[in-house]
Amino acid sequence: MNWKIVDAGAAGWQDAAELHTLSWKTAYRGIVSDSYLENDCANDRQQVWSARAKDWNPAKIVLLIARQDDGLALGMSCAAILPDDPHGVLLDNLHVRPNLKRGGIGRALIAATGRWVAEHVPSTPMYLTVYKDNTNAVAFYRRMGGEEADAGIYAFKDGTSAPILRFTWRDPATIAG
Ligand SMILES: CC(C)(COP(=O)(O)OP(=O)(O)OC[C@H]1O[C@@H](n2cnc3c(N)ncnc32)[C@H](O)[C@@H]1OP(=O)(O)O)[C@@H](O)C(=O)NCCC(=O)NCCS
Repeated sequence: MNWKIVDAGAAGWQDAAELHTLSWKTAYRGIVSDSYLENDCANDRQQVWSARAKDWNPAKIVLLIARQDDGLALGMSCAAILPDDPHGVLLDNLHVRPNLKRGGIGRALIAATGRWVAEHVPSTPMYLTVYKDNTNAVAFYRRMGGEEADAGIYAFKDGTSAPILRFTWRDPATIAG
């Protein structure tokens, strides 16, 4: 399997929506409601990503896609520079096609995103939030050397609430070696 990471820009939004949906349907099972995952997730992610694509400013947001030679999107990450964010640059999404986890794609994506952050906003941390119960992602972020802190309770759009953690990388250029 040959793949490489590309800066997909706004044009990658449909791949992002598809990966986001597949990933949430797996990783968020038991954390948010089955009803949201079965009935709403796909449309919701389509709407979120198409709206994002229409308002794309490449100086403020990046969408990196791990793309196979035949074009298939294997994973994606998205980081956004938000105004006056006290925590740094938000790594808003990081998702690997569920059947391809543990193959090094997540590591490559988070490292490339960290380099983008270091280049665009030097000396700024990168951070994300993750459900405490998303134990696979939490293990991955620990392995990637993020500094971990409790970040309260997150109220999801389906009405469910659950505790989240914040992971921060003070020197994003060096994530994952
Ligand atoms: C989290 C995620 C992006 C990790 O991507 P991945 O491609 O599976 O991770 P990699 O194969 O690059 O793993 C990198 C390292 O982390 C470790 N790791 C990854 N998942 C792990 C797990 N569940 N438990 C322990 N270690 C793990 C790997 O063993 C590897 O370690 P190594 O450096 O010793 O080789 C992926 O599991 C995913 O898409 N999860 C679902 C979506 C999600 O929850 N995203 C986060 C929302 S905030």
